[in-house]
Formats: sequence, C-alpha cells, structure tokens
Amino acid sequence: MLERLRGKRLMFVGDSLNRGQYVSLVCLLQSVIPENAKFMKTFDSLTVFRAEEYNATIEFYWAPFLLESNSDNAIVHRVPDRMIRKGSINKHGRHWKGADIMVFNTYLWWCTGKKMKFLEGGSFDDENKTVVELETEDAYRLAITSMVRWVEKNMDPEKTRVFFTSMSPYHEKSGEWGDEPGGNCYNQTAPIEDPTYWGSGSRKAIMRVIGEVFSESEIPITFLNITQLSEYRKDAHTAIYKKQWSPLTEEQLANPVSYADCVHWCLPGLQDTWNELLFAKLFYP
Ligand SMILES: *[C@@H]1O[C@H](CO)[C@@H](O)[C@H](O)[C@H]1NC(C)=O
Ligand SMILES: *[C@@H]1O[C@H](CO)[C@@H](O)[C@H](O)[C@H]1NC(C)=O
Ligand SMILES: *[C@@H]1O[C@H](CO)[C@@H](O)[C@H](O)[C@H]1NC(C)=O
Ligand SMILES: *[C@@H]1O[C@H](CO)[C@@H](O)[C@H](O)[C@H]1NC(C)=O
Repeated sequence: MLERLRGKRLMFVGDSLNRGQYVSLVCLLQSVIPENAKFMKTFDSLTVFRAEEYNATIEFYWAPFLLESNSDNAIVHRVPDRMIRKGSINKHGRHWKGADIMVFNTYLWWCTGKKMKFLEGGSFDDENKTVVELETEDAYRLAITSMVRWVEKNMDPEKTRVFFTSMSPYHEKSGEWGDEPGGNCYNQTAPIEDPTYWGSGSRKAIMRVIGEVFSESEIPITFLNITQLSEYRKDAHTAIYKKQWSPLTEEQLANPVSYADCVHWCLPGLQDTWNELLFAKLFYP
C-alpha cells in the first residue's frame, strides 16, 4: 500500500465514520515506518499523516455534509439546528485540490428525521435568513450531485481515483435483530447471523439515490459498498469504550445502554476490512 501511495496524497473527506476509516488506514500502515520518518498533524479541518520516505500523505478533511454547513467546525459541531449552504462545494473543495486519491462519505448527518434546511445567501449567523427546506433524499441528492460535479471538474480520470463509501450502519434498537427491545449494541459479543439482515437506519432510498447519481457521473467513482457487510456487526461498535466529552452522571453509569455509542466502530476492527476493500480496488480497479 505504501508503495502504491509513493509520491501521492490520499484524502478522506466526510464525517466521523470516514475519520474512523482514515485512522484505521493510518494504524495499519504506520507501524512499518520508523518513528523519525512519520508525523501526524491537525490544521483545523484537515489532519495529515505523512510518511517521509515515501513522500506520501494520508489526510482527513472534516466536512460532514460535503457542502458548507453550520456544523463544519472540526471540534465544536453539535449544532441543534443543522443548516447547509446550497452550491457551496468549493468552500471545502478548494482544500481537496491536488489529491491523487479521494475517499468521500456522507450520510448520518442527513438523518435528522426532519426536512433539511438550506441557506440561500447571507450567513448562518444572520438573524433573518432565507432558508429552503428539502426532504432528506432530495437534500442528499443535491449534495452528492455537487460532489460529482466537483470531481468532474477537478479530478483527472487518467491519473487519479475517486471512491465513495456507502452508509455505515448503526445498532441502536435490539428489537431489530430479534432480541428483547430496550437494548442496543451494548454487551453484544456476536455478529448477527441472518445474511439478509438490514437495519432500519440504512435507508434504501438513499442507496438508490447514490446508484442513480453515480451512474450519471462522467468520471468513474468506485463505490465501496460496505453497508451489508457492516450490518451484521452489532458487536463491533465502540459502545462504552470511548472518550467521554463530559463526565457521566450516576444515572448513566448505572445504565450503560444509555450512553453506549452504537454508531462508531472499535479499532482494530471492522473498518480495517473497509480498507482492505479500498486496497483491493486500488490495485485491481
Ligand atoms: C512528493 O509528492 C508530491 C505530490 O504529493 C510531488 O509534487 C513532489 O514532486 C514529490 N517530491 C519528490 C521529491 O518526489
Ligand atoms: C429581522 O426581521 C424582523 C421582522 O421583520 C425585523 O424587525 C428585524 O429588524 C430584522 N433584523 C435584521 C437584522 O434585519
Ligand atoms: C451482559 O451480558 C452478560 C453475559 O451474557 C450478562 O450476564 C449481563 O447480564 C449482561 N448485562 C447487561 C446490562 O445486559
Ligand atoms: C450495495 O449493496 C446492497 C446490498 O449488498 C445492494 O442492495 C445495493 O443496491 C448496493 N448499492 C449500490 C448503489 O449498488
């Protein structure tokens, strides 16, 4: 993989699930590089891992909606009322130029259960804003169509590769896999065995939008369809074993189900498999 990346920039762009895949790849590769020949640094939305002797970087750029939004701060992004700016892909896209391999994702941030708000003109902080509301699927289509247009304009299909990772499933309702309701991924130690299992969080309508938009792209976008293989892994989430941003209350501690993270994944773990797929598709397009 490092030889394949020699003299290149590989960039992941998206949300915390894509960051997980980025960290997985860095973990897989960094151990063969001596301490003084590698570094990792964060500059606002961009985190860069560099392998000096290979003149290679693996980077992650935080843009949970790909388009500009009021959730773009890499650290402070828990905004209750999410808002996106229409036609704003270049706001982030100018930081992606020059990458040789791009791996995009975006999904979870669109699943608010409400219509998505798009700002037209002005600033997110304005008191009076012109806001248009779109259904989730339409909003999502608009965003990934913008991404495809950006790719068509900025990536050279002769020299570069573009990947898109499908939605990462979550396991928040034990009833969905036939357990007693009320539980989630907490305390799960075995995968789901039903080969057809598909959780309600992974919207088929979004999968259809992805298929439709990419089939019309003028530049091939390699689709990493990790949804089905990840659906089974109710046992692979970080659950309670993660950094807590605020101290847990006694109530929470007494009921670990209440604070288990059933969205993100442990490393080493499932996301290493996503990277094995990425590796295979880089070598054998
Ligand atoms: C290092 O890689 C960059 C592209 O990421 C390239 O522009 C540059 O020429 C390379 N430098 C050397 C010394 O190979
Ligand atoms: C926002 O709209 C309200 C009601 O129309 C108006 O009173 C207020 O002055 C406006 N604020 C700004 C900053 O334009
Ligand atoms: C976790 O699983 C173990 C073993 O199956 C069980 O004994 C325990 O009661 C479970 N804990 C909770 C809180 O569900
Ligand atoms: C991704 O895989 C799932 C199941 O394996 C399939 O139903 C879906 O159509 C695939 N998505 C696309 C866009 O090809």
